[in-house]
Amino acid sequence: MLPLNTFKGKVAFITGGGTGLGKGMTTTLSMLGAECVISSRKLDVLKETANEITSQTGNKVHAIQCDVRDADSVKNAVTELIQVAGHPDVVINNAAGNFISPSERLSANAWRTITDIVLNGTAYITLEVGKELIKAGKGAAFLAITTIYAESGSGFVVPSASAKAGVEAMYKSLAGEWGRYGMRFNVIQPGPIKTKGAFSRLDPTGEFAGDMVTRIPCGRLGTAGEIANLATYLCSDYANWVSGAIIRMDGGEYVFMAGEFNNLKKVTNNQWDIMEKLIRKTKGS
Ligand code: HXC
Ligand code: NAP
Repeated sequence: MLPLNTFKGKVAFITGGGTGLGKGMTTTLSMLGAECVISSRKLDVLKETANEITSQTGNKVHAIQCDVRDADSVKNAVTELIQVAGHPDVVINNAAGNFISPSERLSANAWRTITDIVLNGTAYITLEVGKELIKAGKGAAFLAITTIYAESGSGFVVPSASAKAGVEAMYKSLAGEWGRYGMRFNVIQPGPIKTKGAFSRLDPTGEFAGDMVTRIPCGRLGTAGEIANLATYLCSDYANWVSGAIIRMDGGEYVFMAGEFNNLKKVTNNQWDIMEKLIRKTKGS
């Protein structure tokens, strides 16, 4: 973790901050001294998380209801954010919607629901906060949470993959354009981390988590605290020269899946002895 007080006097706005990875990032930011503002659709969940974190850290956490799919709701939430805490120094676009489904089963509304939350929601929040910061002459560190398949694409989560890829293009583009206003834009691509929100929609029977672990070279799923440590670093002044970066944090899963021969990890030493002999026999042929 960064030194305590790294975020003292700073305001952090985290979408989807009431649960899962958003709650983890809010907890660490608050421990490091930030005044946090969390927002999502469920105000009761937000308030419970806000009280829990404040009682742990002693720092203020505000809860603001917002549906990121609705541009008016976002505008109102950003107005309220500035009223209760001031212009943010840190903005984390973490809210998302997702479920596994064969693409031929998706209705237009299913597609719109996911892409509205992930791509349009991130755009509405970023544009609304960005315009207010420009008016106030203030910079900020923006962070978006995507996924490793934003880069590769993935079947069965096609709306999410498409929208997350759009978010990455948005953040790289804004890093180029709004750097002149003192704003930085970075992205974290987490690998699988067991949260109720994600696993209830991506592994509803509990059958796939075991498979995931076998393809993660570090041998386990990630944790919310690990994402929070990287997120807080990227949003802190220690990372003031990091912008336009997309950082994968997945225990090596992506490169493992991409590497053609990585499944050879299943081969035993005896089998290697046999294969080595066979290979050596072909020498010169
Ligand atoms: C097919 C489905 C579906 C399913 C919903 N729909 N679930 N279609 N298979 N399993 C369709 C509905 O029929 C409807 O279309 C449309 O999608 C909208 O559904 P609603 O239930 O009305 O939407 P809403 O109440 O707004 O809820 C949004 C939601 C829900 C995305 C569907 O799951 C949600 O609130 N999710 C928020 C949290 C979340 O998803 N967290 C996980 C993030 S994990 P029709 O045509 O019938 O009207 C992640 C990355 C993970 O993003 C990477 C892991 C490694
Ligand atoms: P989660 O707990 O379900 O988090 C999603 C959050 O988004 C919830 O707090 C939810 O709150 C909020 N949200 C959903 N729809 C919204 C809307 N329309 N408006 C505002 N807020 C909305 O799942 P998580 O695992 O922590 O995921 C957090 C982020 O990490 C997401 O961006 C996800 O794509 C990413 N990620 C997760 C994993 C993983 O394995 N867990 C891996 C890669 C990437 P409400 O329901 O109250 O609105």
